[in-house]
Amino acid sequence: MEKLEKLYEGKAKKLYATDDSDILWVDYMNQATAGNGAKKAQIEGKGNLNNHITSVIFDLLKARGVDSHFVKRLSDTEQLVRKMDMFPLEIIMRNTAAGSFAKRYGVEEGTDLKKPILEFCYKSDDLGDPFINDDGIVALGLATEEELAEISRQARAVNAALVDIFSKIDVKLVDFKIEEGKTSDGRILLADEITPDTCRLWDLKDKSGKIEHLDKDLFRRDLGDIIPAYEEIYARLTALAEAEGVERAE
Ligand code: ADP
Ligand code: TMP
Repeated sequence: MEKLEKLYEGKAKKLYATDDSDILWVDYMNQATAGNGAKKAQIEGKGNLNNHITSVIFDLLKARGVDSHFVKRLSDTEQLVRKMDMFPLEIIMRNTAAGSFAKRYGVEEGTDLKKPILEFCYKSDDLGDPFINDDGIVALGLATEEELAEISRQARAVNAALVDIFSKIDVKLVDFKIEEGKTSDGRILLADEITPDTCRLWDLKDKSGKIEHLDKDLFRRDLGDIIPAYEEIYARLTALAEAEGVERAE
């Protein structure tokens, strides 16, 4: 496979064309951002870890019957994915109150929710990714009614599979964000990344009673170095994939 021209450079990844019009070459960068880019840093080793973490998560999901855009990992920071026409949506699933949800509704972080919550934000850096509901998505033509039903079904299936994966490595999956797109033949699929940048992950091995973050809240809230936390997540996920005999695409 040949790497061709750069198509896009975002806050965390660069996308390149390849000699196959259905495949993109993704390069994970070390840049960390928070607050829609208001806070920025270069963190050595982050791109490498996120590339490895999202790859093993996509492999673990596939073994649970959840397909994604992931084709294979190429190197420490690079992977191949299926090229998608992305829905401009941040698809958020929450199992426990935290972050903007806890703030908006005045509930304590860590409060268990009686059912998982599916939320959408309109992906627009200029507007600061505002909250949008199902009617708004269809009314603005961001997805059709049928597409939205499939996106929602997949988001809940991803959540169920991820809750299972993380519970097996003693991590509480508090919430996460995914993105979905459409392949050239019209199939809706999970895309982008699933990493500690895009999930809230709390360590259940820590018995101190205080929340031990293994995710980007360490950076967002100036709580400490993200690298040892991301390394811990990667080590536990790899051990799980090995124990389950999951086929690795690398
Ligand atoms: P951002 O654009 O939010 O700064 P990134 O740096 O992570 O984020 O950029 C990755 C971009 O690639 C995002 O805009 C995302 O929607 C897009 N993307 C993710 N997976 C695919 C895919 N399979 N095909 C096309 N675009 C994708
Ligand atoms: P929030 O509580 O700030 O709304 O975030 C919910 C989850 O979604 C959390 O795990 C972080 C993730 N997320 C992203 O990955 N990117 C984003 O732009 C936002 C707003 C949230």
